[in-house]
Amino acid sequence: MINVTKTFFPPIEDYHFYLQRIWQNQWLTNRGELVLELEVKLKTFLQTNSILITNNGTVPLQIAMKLLAKGGEVITTPFSYVATTASIVWENCTPVFVDIHPEYLTIDETKIEAAITSKTTAILATHVFGNPCAIEKIEQIAQKYDLKVIYDAAHCFGVNYKGKSIFEYGDVSTCSFHATKLFHTGEGGALFCNDKLLMNQFFYSHNFGHNGPLAFHGLGINGKISELQAAMGLAILPYMSHIVEERKKVVEYYDVHLNWKNLNKIKLRETIEWNYSYYPLILENEAQLLKVQKELNDNAIFPRRYFYPSLNMIDYVKGQKMPISESIASRILCLPLYVGLPEKDLETICKIINQMPC
Ligand SMILES: Cc1ncc(COP(=O)(O)O)c(C=O)c1O
Repeated sequence: MINVTKTFFPPIEDYHFYLQRIWQNQWLTNRGELVLELEVKLKTFLQTNSILITNNGTVPLQIAMKLLAKGGEVITTPFSYVATTASIVWENCTPVFVDIHPEYLTIDETKIEAAITSKTTAILATHVFGNPCAIEKIEQIAQKYDLKVIYDAAHCFGVNYKGKSIFEYGDVSTCSFHATKLFHTGEGGALFCNDKLLMNQFFYSHNFGHNGPLAFHGLGINGKISELQAAMGLAILPYMSHIVEERKKVVEYYDVHLNWKNLNKIKLRETIEWNYSYYPLILENEAQLLKVQKELNDNAIFPRRYFYPSLNMIDYVKGQKMPISESIASRILCLPLYVGLPEKDLETICKIINQMPC
């Protein structure tokens, strides 16, 4: 069976090395030695000025909504994973969708201003598939209307934009270290914020608000990661260049061997170093997508409909029409992409797709 992705497992001896340290320390959570070490190593690896590792990529979005959106209207993208919209709604804020750019697939910055009202407090935009939003334009709008900018950068591990980490942009950026991501800790995530006062608030918020054992710095939740998860991250980090290199080969294979006559792909921003996180294929219509999907499934190949449905179609937020996002969501399919995907399987996938009548 070939799935859309396959979790990268480091050699078990590498994981054992870190497990032994955990056993020596007899310490499993509450920001232990391994979590702190992973933070230091990730900051160096990613070249960021800040990092706070969390237990997944959703909790930092929720904390960001709580601290920065404060129950207001949040301008957001309909083309993302459901966690983006759900974090807004979960924190009693109101998502206001703005349609996406048909090629970059990120929020269409030219439509943002028209959606701003006196209740708007923040913009939560996703660098979808690791492709940056129109960062400069969004920053200009945010400054003009005094809005906070939160980037859901769940897909962006290792992405650089204009020579620096994508996580350095916005008031806050978040990332996911879920097992399906190219760098992972099983479950896990991080947030990045260069405003020290705000980062302090994030820090307290992710640890129940604790300010020492007896005092509290305000409201908080449990966003902490364990030493066992940090051990996985530490064991994987040395393999990152291998992971990116291998994924790049798969991407290049698809680029060369797919017949692009009736197919399309995402347009990446020009000034990025990308991370080869996903291989989204855009078909002409949903009927064609379903045909391709069925044929692949019949051959035990399971791409995923990332992202479907367009988030404005979900029951609890339904209402606004987002024609571009709805159209893209109905005909986009992410192809298998992972380290160790054999060339013969890539050949089969391309053959099936290329043979489909359009
Ligand atoms: C765009 C986006 N945001 C948020 C998340 C949530 O991350 P996590 O699963 O680590 O909570 C995901 C997960 O895939 C995602 O794709």
